[in-house]
Amino acid sequence: MKVLLLLPLALIGCDSDPADQDAARALIDANGCGTCHRIPETEGADGLTGPPLTAMSRQVYVAGVVPNTPDMLTAFIADPQAIDPRSAMPDLGLSLEEARLIGEYLYAVGGGS
Ligand code: HEC
Repeated sequence: MKVLLLLPLALIGCDSDPADQDAARALIDANGCGTCHRIPETEGADGLTGPPLTAMSRQVYVAGVVPNTPDMLTAFIADPQAIDPRSAMPDLGLSLEEARLIGEYLYAVGGGS
């Protein structure tokens, strides 16, 4: 049922404007994502505890368990254990809106190379 509630988020699309990117960077900074993850174009995001988020737009799965779609990425960032109860990624208490902003940012900067 939770997935149904997230469907409208998928329809918003993943274009990322500069103001949204700034907001996403601020959220990433405030929540310490970069202490565990390497994130392109994001100052100080060079952690190695979690996987590098350098090709999020090209990955097939999120966290290796669900298809990589905007709504799944949002859901995982907002509540990792709802997607995979054994995930080592902490639940940082983000709202769905905050998680969506971050997810769009990760798609925008995570083109892989
Ligand atoms: C304490 C370390 C830690 C912090 C802080 C952290 N993560 Fe993670 N994250 C992990 C670990 C470990 C995994 C791998 C677990 C998994 O795949 O279930 C992970 C997985 C992920 C994935 C899936 C990656 C993939 O390859 O599919 C995404 C996306 C992600 N984290 C985003 C974030 C975001 C955004 C934040 C900040 C809001 C954040 N993480 C904060 C440790 C962390």
